[in-house]
Amino acid sequence: MSEGLFLTLEGIDGAGKSSHLDAMEALFRAQGRTVVRTREPGGTPLAETLRGLILEQPMDPLTESLLVFAARRDHVAQVIEPALARGDVVLSDRFTDATFAYQGAGRGFDAEVLSTLERWVQGRAGPSGAARQQMLQPHITLWFDLAPEIAAQRLAGARLPDKFESQPVEFFRRVAAGYAARAAADAQRFVRIDASQARDQVWQQVETALVARGAFAPVSGAAR
Ligand code: TYD
Repeated sequence: MSEGLFLTLEGIDGAGKSSHLDAMEALFRAQGRTVVRTREPGGTPLAETLRGLILEQPMDPLTESLLVFAARRDHVAQVIEPALARGDVVLSDRFTDATFAYQGAGRGFDAEVLSTLERWVQGRAGPSGAARQQMLQPHITLWFDLAPEIAAQRLAGARLPDKFESQPVEFFRRVAAGYAARAAADAQRFVRIDASQARDQVWQQVETALVARGAFAPVSGAAR
């Protein structure tokens, strides 16, 4: 059985990451992999209920961070860990980097507290069972990087904006800087995708990055 692969997509609202999920899923399936497609906040009935609150209700950044990590805990325990143990590919639209970018950089919440919550939620018992020393992290994170001004143009009029999408461009500048800092701190895991290019070129970057990271063999012909 192949080892599980945990892959996440990140970026500011309007960066276009979600539009590549179908093709990514198809590529993995073509390689014979079982794909679990999921998202955050969400991915379980409880976490989806929390998502509704997080995206619609005003709340202070600590409450928001606790809810996001509560949703994540359920998602990790119920979906992500079991899927990886089976050897599946977990394809998640956002994960913890979004919390550091949105709640941390965007809303200015304490990154130390977020790191503590991250260890609680993603910590795995070590071989002795004593310390929760190892952390669950994505193997590969595709970071769709796009200037906030362009993202705002792409979002404009698309649909009724949620709590975050209706934030001003300055908020997304901070979020984008948060992603850049997170990527710089973990260059092994992150792949920067230049999301300002045309959709097909963005897809080419995604495919190339996945092949380069050993996610699957090169594919001949276009996937879409
Ligand atoms: P998004 O993933 O963009 O979904 P959709 O395409 O349906 O809008 O929406 C999730 C929103 O939640 C997005 O604005 C980012 C925000 N978010 C956080 O603030 N913190 C988090 O930890 C996560 C996972 C998401």
